[in-house]
Amino acid sequence: MTLHNTKPVIKAAVLATLAILTLTALTRIAAAQSGAWPTILREGAEEYAESCAACHGTDFKGSGELGQKLFKKPHDLTEIAKRNGGVFPFRRVFDVIAGDQTVEGHDTMHMPKYAERMKREDFQPGYNPAHVRILELTHYLESIQARQ
Ligand code: HEC
Repeated sequence: MTLHNTKPVIKAAVLATLAILTLTALTRIAAAQSGAWPTILREGAEEYAESCAACHGTDFKGSGELGQKLFKKPHDLTEIAKRNGGVFPFRRVFDVIAGDQTVEGHDTMHMPKYAERMKREDFQPGYNPAHVRILELTHYLESIQARQ
């Protein structure tokens, strides 16, 4: 083999190795993103941005444009656990979002029951059933709790 011929072979080998390494990395990233847990949190975040951030804010502290106009400013959603002795009250939060437990500000003229709106979207392509989305939202809120 002459030197003249060797160079392209080495180049090809290096390129092939790089391609394999890149593919492996991409596959790992895809696997991490498509795992059930990351999916739950990602879909919860998407629903939050769509349905909740207007009042509660993208910072969860009630800074949303609509939140500023409410007669009762929403509490900081990152401190739900802190306000509850360090324990995230999963069931209560689920019930609030589902509209099964009323808090001032939800289920009043200020806040339609989200569950009802979500239920109307059930079975539409691209939408999870309402109870799944409420669960995802609750898990998402649990995941953004401030460290105590
Ligand atoms: C129209 C404004 C508005 C929208 C939209 C809204 N909220 Fe609220 N939310 C409030 C107000 C007002 C309160 C009552 C004050 C408080 O307890 O923080 C509240 C309270 C809460 C509470 C209770 C907080 C606690 O510490 O007990 C949770 C949980 C909550 N909202 C979650 C959500 C989620 C999830 C969404 C989206 C599906 C949402 N909210 C959409 C206004 C809103």
